[in-house]
Amino acid sequence: MNDLEQTLSIIKPDAVERNLIEDIKSIFTKNNLVIKENKKIHITKEEAAEFYKVHQSKPFYDQLCAYLSSGPIVVMILEGKDAVLKNRKLMGATDPKNADENTIRKLYGISIDKNSVHGSDSIENAKKEIKFFFLN
Ligand code: CMP
Repeated sequence: MNDLEQTLSIIKPDAVERNLIEDIKSIFTKNNLVIKENKKIHITKEEAAEFYKVHQSKPFYDQLCAYLSSGPIVVMILEGKDAVLKNRKLMGATDPKNADENTIRKLYGISIDKNSVHGSDSIENAKKEIKFFFLN
C-alpha cells in the first residue's frame, strides 16, 4: 500500500523534558512525514486514561496513565505515504532495549515506560487517536 495516510504521534514527557522535541521532529520530516498539526499540551490523568483505555486491563495501565500526564507532551498529526507503518518503523520496538539501531526509541528511550514516543498502531486507531486530540 502506498496511500497517503495520517497517523498520531506523541512526544512523551521524558523526551520533552530533555529538549528532544526538535530532534525527534527532524527524524519525521527527514523521512518524508509532514507535520500537519502540532501542539504542546499537559493532559490530566483522566484524559490519559481515556486515551489509553485499550490498555485498561493491563497491569501497567495505572502507571502508564500517571506517566503520560506527568508533564508536557507534544501531539502531532503526521502525514505521508504509509505514515502509520513508517512512523512505527522510525520509533522502533516498544522497549528501547529491543529497538533497532537509529530508531527514536533506541536513540532516546530510557525504559519501556519512558520510551520517548507513542505512535498509532493501525489506520483505524490513527483515526481515533487524531480525533481524540484534534477533532474534539
Ligand atoms: P505506547 O506505544 O505509548 O503504548 C502503550 C505504552 O505502555 C507503551 O508505549 C509503553 O510505554 C507502556 N508500557 C509499559 N509497560 C509495558 C509493557 N509491559 N508492555 C507494553 N507496553 C508497556
